[in-house]
Amino acid sequence: MNETGEKIYFDNGSTSFPKAPGVAEAVGELLKSGAFNINRGSYEGAYEVEAAVLETREQLARLFHAPDSRRVIFTPGITYSLNYFIRGFLKRGDHVLVTGMEHNAVMRPLHCMEKEGVVCEALPTDREGGVDPADVERMLQPRTRAVIVLHASNVCGTIVPIGEIGRICRKRGVFFVVDTAQSAGTIPVDMEAACIDFLAFTGHKGLLGPQGIGGFVISGALDKEMEPLIAGGTGSMSDSLSMPRTLPDKYESGTMNLPGIIGLHAALAYIEKTGLDVIHRRKMELTARFLEQVRALPGVRIAGRQGTDGRVAVVSLDFPGRDNAVLAFALEQEYGIMTRVGLHCAPMAHRALGTFPQGTVRFAFSAANTEAEVDACIRALERLLDQPEDGI
Ligand code: ALA
Repeated sequence: MNETGEKIYFDNGSTSFPKAPGVAEAVGELLKSGAFNINRGSYEGAYEVEAAVLETREQLARLFHAPDSRRVIFTPGITYSLNYFIRGFLKRGDHVLVTGMEHNAVMRPLHCMEKEGVVCEALPTDREGGVDPADVERMLQPRTRAVIVLHASNVCGTIVPIGEIGRICRKRGVFFVVDTAQSAGTIPVDMEAACIDFLAFTGHKGLLGPQGIGGFVISGALDKEMEPLIAGGTGSMSDSLSMPRTLPDKYESGTMNLPGIIGLHAALAYIEKTGLDVIHRRKMELTARFLEQVRALPGVRIAGRQGTDGRVAVVSLDFPGRDNAVLAFALEQEYGIMTRVGLHCAPMAHRALGTFPQGTVRFAFSAANTEAEVDACIRALERLLDQPEDGI
């Protein structure tokens, strides 16, 4: 065990733990008191849940600076949201630009669409995971329909300058899609200032809510052109075989994940009360402490940015000459430190960072982690790196 005597969770890039205070209670309370279906039942219990769902949309609209909470659409997660756009909107002949850091949640649906005649090109991406907005300007074509970028890398934390890219897209009449999986709940995401047309989010990472709830926020311009990928019952305009055109019903068919939304509601209330800046500052203090000590260790390479500028609290380490999986396994087995090793569902990002095919060991901090945990992890790494690999 490590020197804190407790297990240490550094896999917050995958899913955050612990969740925000009050999340488990809110979910449990809803299930106990009756998770009545909204837009269907005409009784008080259903109206109460409906009011809480509306409040959650409003919290998300405030967080993302969305013009209207009806533009906040719930889905089972960010992968579904991204599929909604990529498979539901793009058509044969469309050209799409992505960064070289995208997750498979973008690349796999795009690959499906390439078979349908969509053409995808990756922007040049430097060894730190950075992209240059000037390349967007240069690579846009008359048939470019969308630019899709992840706001912060799930591999190495590098932040993409979405404001500059978004303004280029708006000027050139191209839809701008942003994957906020690693940035939402950590750094500001201003949909209007960054000219975002489709903002995909997940509830279970930085937003500190449960798994199985995510969504997207859609601009008016995109909504005018996008048809719902999923059709079904909405509890509204049921006499028509066509989907309603009103938001959010147009994109929300079937019974929603109400326990997930209510859990997210509690998490967002905590984030609003605490303040995004406080949460981010705390995470970056821990990241700075970790990076500073890692730099002094022999036999470690930090993938991506070396310092705290232009990044979120996700750090990937490569241990040249060693098997990263063996090291991550030993960190957990011998020291109770949980990380994520491998390609992190983002092989293209690892190619850009020079860590393909070996991947990296990823440490992703939350504001609930402590200095003592960071220091204990460094001591554990020191000890492991002191041993020959077959001694681990
Ligand atoms: N995409 C999540 C991660 O990076 C699951 O671990």
